Amino acid sequence: MSDLDAAPGEGWTRVCRASDVPADTPLGVELRGEDETGRVCVVRLPGGGFQAMLDRCPHRDIRLSGGMVRDGLLTCPGHFWRFDLADGHRTDEPGQVCTFHPTTVHDGWVWARLPEPAPPLGMREWLLQQARQRSE
Ligand code: FES
Repeated sequence: MSDLDAAPGEGWTRVCRASDVPADTPLGVELRGEDETGRVCVVRLPGGGFQAMLDRCPHRDIRLSGGMVRDGLLTCPGHFWRFDLADGHRTDEPGQVCTFHPTTVHDGWVWARLPEPAPPLGMREWLLQQARQRSE
């Protein structure tokens, strides 16, 4: 969530141009194809910084990038839960929290430290995952 003066080093991923992130709308970026860990939602913070997070609501598999940003809160488009962009917690139920990534800006780009890519699923695990997603 801080802006570093030095260029990000190993482990940082360039996500998007800072100028591409609207003031009141999150920007969704896919960096790793089908791998969910590469789904990134970037929001512009009220103080002028940026926050990158997993583009998945902690409630259901809905992209937070489809929501809206206002007064330091991100509203999910799924069921309108609101998350405080200061810490990612749901405003009325702090046990629910967005997955924030360490974020910085360098040379006009938003960078994030993403988790390691998920290992590839076997056929059985993939089928179970698909079945779970369809029942949500
Ligand atoms: S999917 Fe986000 S609030 Fe339900």
